[in-house]
Amino acid sequence: MNHLIVVAHPVERSFTMGLADAFADELEKLGHVRQTRDLYRMGFDPVLGGQELVSGASGDAAQAQDDIRAADVLTVIYPLWWLSMPAMMKGYVDRVLARGFAYGSKKGVVHGLLSGKKAVLITLSGAPLPLLVASGNWNAVQVLQDTHVFRSSGFDLLEHLHFDEVEPDLPGATAERNMARVRS
Ligand SMILES: Cc1cc2nc3c(=O)[nH]c(=O)nc-3n(C[C@H](O)[C@H](O)[C@H](O)COP(=O)(O)O)c2cc1C
Repeated sequence: MNHLIVVAHPVERSFTMGLADAFADELEKLGHVRQTRDLYRMGFDPVLGGQELVSGASGDAAQAQDDIRAADVLTVIYPLWWLSMPAMMKGYVDRVLARGFAYGSKKGVVHGLLSGKKAVLITLSGAPLPLLVASGNWNAVQVLQDTHVFRSSGFDLLEHLHFDEVEPDLPGATAERNMARVRS
């Protein structure tokens, strides 16, 4: 299968980037074709400007749409920041999953245009998942990110894999357990 991995973390040696590398490495071991788009290192422009809003995707956003056209599976990896995506990833969603490419709408009701493609969502948080669930925050993440962004665009969301309690200086054993989990 053709896999496209899109990852957003400003620090190249972060845990998030480590998960992305392990995931990519495992796909290759399994004989899949994969491309990784590391949004910060490639200097992706996350601002949806007026010209593009009116005329459609151009430049790096148009290239990113071609990446998705060519992929069977899109895997998106980012830390939860204020329970949401880093602005870099939000900008990717704004510019790339654009009207006419990822969705259309009639009388305000959205229909996805990317059906037939699969998606995997990988997120991280500092907070423990049970705390996010108990507070209702996890439901908000699922409604706004899993459903409103990815399912609304027509993706078959295979899995939302979440890594919680990720803090600086994770004990080695915990880090290794998480790397094994993303590989599996
Ligand atoms: C700007 C910012 C906002 C954050 N907001 C949240 C949050 O709302 N909930 C949470 O559990 N963790 C939050 N965190 C913690 C990150 O999710 C966590 O540190 C990250 O997943 C760890 O991955 P990393 O080591 O690759 O950075 C935030 C971190 C930053 C920098």
